[in-house]
Amino acid sequence: MITKCLFPAAGYGTRFLPATKAMPKEMLPILTKPLIQYGVEEAVEADMNVMAIITGRGKRAIEDHFDISYELENQIKGSSKEYLLDEIRDLINRCTFTYTRQIEMKGLGDAILKGKALVGESDPFGVILADDLCINPDGNGIMHQMIDLYEKYKCCIVAIMEVPQDQVHKYGVISGRTIEDGVYLVDDMVEKPDNDKAPSNLAIIGRYILTPDIFEVIKKTKPGKNGEVQITDALLSQAKKGMVLGYKFKGRRFDCGSVEGFVEATNYFYDMTHKKE
Ligand code: UTP
Repeated sequence: MITKCLFPAAGYGTRFLPATKAMPKEMLPILTKPLIQYGVEEAVEADMNVMAIITGRGKRAIEDHFDISYELENQIKGSSKEYLLDEIRDLINRCTFTYTRQIEMKGLGDAILKGKALVGESDPFGVILADDLCINPDGNGIMHQMIDLYEKYKCCIVAIMEVPQDQVHKYGVISGRTIEDGVYLVDDMVEKPDNDKAPSNLAIIGRYILTPDIFEVIKKTKPGKNGEVQITDALLSQAKKGMVLGYKFKGRRFDCGSVEGFVEATNYFYDMTHKKE
């Protein structure tokens, strides 16, 4: 069983400046809930209960969010607003939250390597990038679907989606052969390729299942695109040695690391709650 989920959340979030000058990007809310809470809820829905968060300077609000605020709790107790804390209280009760800091922002691969101290070296674990907000209104969440697939193949898995060819330069991109409906055996992957040089239009989004041997591979991975240690490069080494799968998930993903995706998600969630009323 996979019970641990890593949340790399150390990035600067420069696309949201000045909002992210003193506030973590992961704490930006879609309606009333911060992005990282959606991610933790997705992990809980997948039966995970250890949330390992990679933070950095200026990210303490994340730790405070997943903790009790005595003064506020006391103030709101018994009032008509108390129910607004129900969901977050439930998460705090069900999960263990652990934290470590990435001191220098040397890339997603490096952030994941920092997570070794939190998730250990003996079990596979999930990775959620909270700025990719994923939902599946028609069934299991994306992390849940990936864990089900892991049970069958026991190897690293990346979530993928088709994107327009002129957008591939924003993503890690895979190519591979289909081994079952929506599942690809990866034979190549490139981080942020030029649009005309991408091996396909199958883009990696912010959900991974990783086996712990990835840590040794990351250690040996040289900085790549933008001088950062890329998880895509480490996974390509894994794919060459053994097996990495690309999984075309069921559901929807919002790129909340961009202003456009953030607005799209806000409108979507507003319409969804509005319709229920
Ligand atoms: P992004 O490149 O999308 O996030 O990294 P960013 O750097 O925070 O945002 P911009 O581009 O400046 O606006 C993808 C994910 O990887 C994490 C980020 O926090 C984000 O969740 N990350 C990235 C780290 O934790 N450490 C890093 O060194 C780089």
